[in-house]
Amino acid sequence: MKKSIKDLGNLQGKKVLIRVDFNVPLKDGVITNDNRITAAIPTINYALEQGAKVVVFSHLGRVKEEADKATKSLAPVAARLAEVLGQVVKFIPTTRGEDLDEAVKSLKNGEILMFENTRFEDLDGKKESKNDEELGKYWASLGDVFVNDAFGTAHRAHASNKGIASNIGAGNSAFGFLIEKELKFIGGAVDNPVRPLVAIIGGAKVSDKIGVIENLLEKADKVIIGGGMAYTFLKATGRSIGISLCEDDKVEYASQLLEKAGDKIVLPVDTVAVKEFSNEAPSRIATDDIQEDEEGVDIGPKSVELFSEVLKDAKTVIWNGPMGVFEMPNFAKGTIGVCESIANLEDATTIIGGGDSATAAIQLGYADKFSHISTGGGASLEYLEGKILPGIESLSDK
Ligand code: 3PG
Repeated sequence: MKKSIKDLGNLQGKKVLIRVDFNVPLKDGVITNDNRITAAIPTINYALEQGAKVVVFSHLGRVKEEADKATKSLAPVAARLAEVLGQVVKFIPTTRGEDLDEAVKSLKNGEILMFENTRFEDLDGKKESKNDEELGKYWASLGDVFVNDAFGTAHRAHASNKGIASNIGAGNSAFGFLIEKELKFIGGAVDNPVRPLVAIIGGAKVSDKIGVIENLLEKADKVIIGGGMAYTFLKATGRSIGISLCEDDKVEYASQLLEKAGDKIVLPVDTVAVKEFSNEAPSRIATDDIQEDEEGVDIGPKSVELFSEVLKDAKTVIWNGPMGVFEMPNFAKGTIGVCESIANLEDATTIIGGGDSATAAIQLGYADKFSHISTGGGASLEYLEGKILPGIESLSDK
């Protein structure tokens, strides 16, 4: 069992390093979705209210060349954090050196600063992403204790999570309230669900989700498969799929899974078929008659009905991946239908495992209707696969 922030004792006067995942979408320097910022507030406030000296940091995007610095600065994120907290957040536009050292030293109890994108260090031999020993040691030296609340980055073993945890000293690291919540909901649903547990998996590729499908087939009572990946499964059943997305090298694998899982796997029974990949393209509902020059871009109405029927009695639902090309409004009905069916379930714990399905639910206005929407994309996928997340594994044991 790992330590939580509450196990670190009284934080008054302590320099508390908090790794958050503020890798938020930015358009022309403006944050278009601040969920990851608001999700980290309980942990930051807890430390501030105890009178800690708080140092917050994150990565933002991937930094590959000097020019990336212009668009990947955390300055606008620090400004937004200050607004949300209602308190000054001093922004230090560097990742190391005298300015940062001095700023940390001069923090008073209850004050907070944020330093620049940890991945600026990647311009020098990928120091952050390769967990450079000296960098982890340096960042650890800035604080007394380390709190990791960056669930979205927990599947990475980087200097700003694993590196600090390994160097901050025995017993001095813990997870924050966001990671605690993610583990409670996703971990609870997978390892100790109220049954029936129904998993809905979508998205483009089978190969991206093999681990998730296999793990959930063991744990869930039903596994619904939709989205682009469903066509590989449909082909495995012998159905015509035209020019729909298909991973030919995974058809045999899909066939074996179907044989093993029997009626535990639920596939779409109809599809929205088009001859041209465009929102304006004329479409029709195809059942098992997708023509050679047609491709599927969404599940059809009968599939939405079937999936809703399967979901009806669920007591726990995990959803990962859209049912079609939901970015094109004409092909979003399947994703909306499934989203509505889950959102309207009463008495069920409903979880979205991050990524595109989280974006879809938020865009469609259903955010409040789910028990939990994960802030992790890759991290929730790896967690759903049953993998160990190094950002959490490296924290102190209780
Ligand atoms: C994410 O958005 O999935 C996390 O912030 C991790 O980002 P990465 O895939 O660039 O490591």
